[in-house]
Amino acid sequence: MKKVARIVLIFLGVILFLVGGIVVYRKLQPAAFINQSIRFQNKLNIPSILMPRIVNGEKVFDLSVNEKETEIIPGTTTRTLGYNGSILGPTLRINNGDNVRIRVTNNLHEDTTVHWHGMLLPAKMDGGPHQTITTGSTWEPYWTVKNEAGTLWYHPHTLEKTGEQVYQGLAGLILIDDKNSESLSLPKKYGEDDIPLIVQDKKFDAHAQFIYDHSHMIPVTTGFLGDTILVNGTYAPYVQVPAKLVRFRILNGSNARRYNFGFSDSRTFTQIASDGGFLQTGVERTRLQLSPGERAEIIVDLSGQTETLTLLSYPVIGDTNIVRSFALSALAGGSDEYQEFKILELRPQSGNFAKSEIPHVLNTILYLQERDAVKTREFDLDSASINKKKMDSSRADEIVRKGDIEIWHVSNDSPMYHPFHIHGIQFQVLSRNDQKPALYEQGWKDTITVNPGDSVKLIMQFMEDSDPTNPFMYHCHILEHEDMGMMGQFVVVDKDVREEDIKINSSNMGQGMMH
Ligand code: C2O
Ligand code: CU
Ligand code: CU
Repeated sequence: MKKVARIVLIFLGVILFLVGGIVVYRKLQPAAFINQSIRFQNKLNIPSILMPRIVNGEKVFDLSVNEKETEIIPGTTTRTLGYNGSILGPTLRINNGDNVRIRVTNNLHEDTTVHWHGMLLPAKMDGGPHQTITTGSTWEPYWTVKNEAGTLWYHPHTLEKTGEQVYQGLAGLILIDDKNSESLSLPKKYGEDDIPLIVQDKKFDAHAQFIYDHSHMIPVTTGFLGDTILVNGTYAPYVQVPAKLVRFRILNGSNARRYNFGFSDSRTFTQIASDGGFLQTGVERTRLQLSPGERAEIIVDLSGQTETLTLLSYPVIGDTNIVRSFALSALAGGSDEYQEFKILELRPQSGNFAKSEIPHVLNTILYLQERDAVKTREFDLDSASINKKKMDSSRADEIVRKGDIEIWHVSNDSPMYHPFHIHGIQFQVLSRNDQKPALYEQGWKDTITVNPGDSVKLIMQFMEDSDPTNPFMYHCHILEHEDMGMMGQFVVVDKDVREEDIKINSSNMGQGMMH
């Protein structure tokens, strides 16, 4: 008995010593974030909107993937990757019902893929790890837009290289419009009162080059965490906004970092959309926490505002065991997720603006019913695996029948959070820890934060084209976890397809990617 007590005491002592050491260490260090000590005086870059060509009734978009240089920190240049331009990519703006075709040419010295995150489309158009675009070649996916109005995004999904390629600059937005979004009276002047914000963290070396250091060696890793926040690729940004209702479409495009967004005066704002479209009605909030891959649209009322306001990230919440999470996270370099730091400065411009209000009804969401689900699947998240399995590109982890409504029950027994993402569908949250989800989680989503100890029940209907050879992915959207194999594959096939006829074609994976 005494022995046990002694061991426990020693153990507690070690923990206290570690945590104490980290706290002291951090106090001795100057501010971890470069952003905190500088003035925000760079004009926020707004990604341009890519104009399509109309060919045979299709909207054809041309994207090229390039290695270039970008002036991020004024007076220096950083080697970056970009779609068309030198960093990030143009915004694709499409309508529900459009026939789109995208010609993606890979000018990189390595393979890549382009994934349309959140899009409802056939697996072979999805741009997952199986749709490799080899160096110098062009990939040409096409589909009819089934998604409702919302803010989606595109990014590489190259096997084991997603983190690196996204980090070097590859990501862009997709804005979908439909009859509903057109009829709603909401701010919708792109870049003026409807402003996209792609929020990412980076680390620079002394020569202003990106550093991508994270360890594949430690079994428990937070993933890459940078010390400098960029918004739309802009360092220390400000934006001029009209002193009226202003809409922000926020994408957490970071590899691993969470943000707990809020304004410097902690004012209330209204969340109007989640990942896959408008909420039924706006939800008033003072904080908005987003994990990598998640999007939200918010409206902030700046009527009569003359003073500068700052968009901040407040300390993140949701880690059930704060001491454990803090210690773990600090050891992995991530304790700054519990700090407060600046994201973007808003400079309101007065003018003659008509008084406007956010419409009460934003959307009509048909809720899928638990009793209609034909199957429940369990997904247990570990520190870097799902159901104790690592990604295997030739294995169909799950076989789903087209048209079925299913419940995916995702639980996290690991000491850290994981954002769980599913391709090819938008889902609804049935429950979080057996409770009805918060109002802001009652809309369409494709990525969901699963905190340590959490269990979430998701419901979805699989309507995409069946394909016994091309799988869809589900994975953790901490890109380092994804690259470490925290990813699985599912096929959606017609009812009459026999299991033995399902053969995933893994020869379509890039060369040099297979080990
Ligand atoms: Cu945004 Cu499979 O990813
Ligand atoms: Cu995706
Ligand atoms: Cu993860």
